[in-house]
Amino acid sequence: MKIQIINGPNLNLLGKREPEVYGSKGFGEFFTELQKRFPTVELSYYQSNIEGELINKLHEVGFNFDAVILNAGAYTHTSIALHDAIGAIKTKVIEVHISNVYAREEFRHTSLITSKCVGLITGFGLEGYAMAIQYANSSALKN
Ligand code: DQA
Repeated sequence: MKIQIINGPNLNLLGKREPEVYGSKGFGEFFTELQKRFPTVELSYYQSNIEGELINKLHEVGFNFDAVILNAGAYTHTSIALHDAIGAIKTKVIEVHISNVYAREEFRHTSLITSKCVGLITGFGLEGYAMAIQYANSSALKN
C-alpha cells in the first residue's frame, strides 16, 4: 500500500503558523509518528507552496500510488486546476483539513476539489491524516 501525502501552501509552517488553529507540532515530527503507527504502509510526503508543483506531484503519483491524502491549503478554495488534476488521475484522493473549515470564514466553506475526492476529513487536527490513512488502508478503498 503506497500512500502519498501532499500538503499545499503555508503548511510548511505547521508548528509555527497560528498554533491556536493548526497546533504546535511540525509536520516532519508528525510524519515520523505516522510511519511508526502504520508500519505496513509505504508513506511518502511532499509539500509545496506552488500550485503547479502540486499538480505535477498529483500527475507523478496519480497512476501508481494506491491513495493520495491532499491538504491543498488555500488552493482548496480557489483552484479549478487542482480540481481538474484530481479528476485526471486514477489514484483516489482524500481531502484533509486540519481545522474545521466550516467553522471559519465563509470563503473557506467552498471547496473546488471535494467533488473530485473520495471524501473529506476536516477539523480533527493532524489526526485527520491518520484517519485518512486508516480509511485508505481499509478494504473500502482497495475495492
Ligand atoms: C487548511 C484550511 C484552509 O482554509 C487554509 O487556507 C489552510 C489550511 C487546514 O488544513 O485547515 O492553509 O487547509
